[in-house]
Amino acid sequence: MAAEHAQQVREGFTALYGTEPDGVWAAPGRVNLIGEHTDYNDGFVMPFALPHTAVAAVALRHDGVLRLHSADMPSDPVELRIADLAPETADGWTAYPAGVVWALRQAGHEMPGADVHLASTVPSGAGLSSSAALEVVVALALNDLCGLGLKRWQLARLCQRAENIYVGAPTGIMDQTAAACCQAGHALFLDTRDLSQRQIPFDLAAQGLRLLVVDTQVKHAHSEGEYGKRRAGCEKGAALLGVDALRDVPCDGLDAALDRLGDEEEVRRLVKHVVTENRRVERVVSLLESGETRAIGPLLTEGHASLRDDFRISCAELDLVVDTALASGALGARMTGGGFGGSAIVLAEADDVPALTKAFEDAFTHAGFTAPRVFEAVPSAGARRLV
Ligand code: GLA
Repeated sequence: MAAEHAQQVREGFTALYGTEPDGVWAAPGRVNLIGEHTDYNDGFVMPFALPHTAVAAVALRHDGVLRLHSADMPSDPVELRIADLAPETADGWTAYPAGVVWALRQAGHEMPGADVHLASTVPSGAGLSSSAALEVVVALALNDLCGLGLKRWQLARLCQRAENIYVGAPTGIMDQTAAACCQAGHALFLDTRDLSQRQIPFDLAAQGLRLLVVDTQVKHAHSEGEYGKRRAGCEKGAALLGVDALRDVPCDGLDAALDRLGDEEEVRRLVKHVVTENRRVERVVSLLESGETRAIGPLLTEGHASLRDDFRISCAELDLVVDTALASGALGARMTGGGFGGSAIVLAEADDVPALTKAFEDAFTHAGFTAPRVFEAVPSAGARRLV
């Protein structure tokens, strides 16, 4: 699959630009197993990479010009002068790769120019980090071609800067680190305070388990304002509690912290989610490390309830997936990603997958919702050079 996709993108590059690319790279979308809205609170996250990737064929040029083209959005290549790149000026998908070039240059790296042709199999607007995949694939290609020698975590940081400052979306570091650092067969336990990480074996098939992604097809793009509000509320909570970040509130100090917040009801709910969610990540890590994979199910479900009731970023479609999953024998289920639409994940016995898939279809039809897209998520490789 990957080799075929790489070949197609390579041929697409040649047809478009009339030359061979210098190489072809891939970076994946991600699912977050647990640890939601914790990354901008210096907390813990646990994403794993999907088999779906953004693939980029890239050739350097030496005239300060950046040409960007996507097979997914047929049009002529967009041509930009690297010296003129400036935050929040680019439109649509080109903001992500252009932002990466801007961030690399801002960090003091010479950017001579490049021709880029991209194609992605990561569903966009589905909460599966299609934008981070675009950023990281371009960052890795330029790191290799320009001999920058940057480490994966450094590329992730630069991509986050591209997203925060160039694109203007106030996201955390999880998605870019997942795309850059995940490994096949593992989930990535990441401490977003110091970016220390541990690869946790997560081989579901070997245990007769499956993890389904249910894409509700509700696009979450409109939610940026809400994301920013949650982030600001968390920062307010940390300030009121006198800590650098909500990460610093221990789970056994939660009640005292909530008391101190008094009648700041909104902030209290946000704090409660973040503090309990960090604890859930730690518990999931220790269960996986002791081989008790089935036992993580209830923690996933608890995480969903917290996002729905305290953080308030779920929606009717996501709740329907979770309720239907649990009523049909799943071990656990939760929304994943930023919220307000996008996808849910469902942990289930392999044998139960056909019945669950049917149950989602029936429930969505009955509720009058657009049919969801259901697929199995196999923990896959992070960003890499293909050719
Ligand atoms: C989006 C952001 C991430 C993270 C998640 C919520 O995916 O890009 O940084 O905050 O939402 O966990």
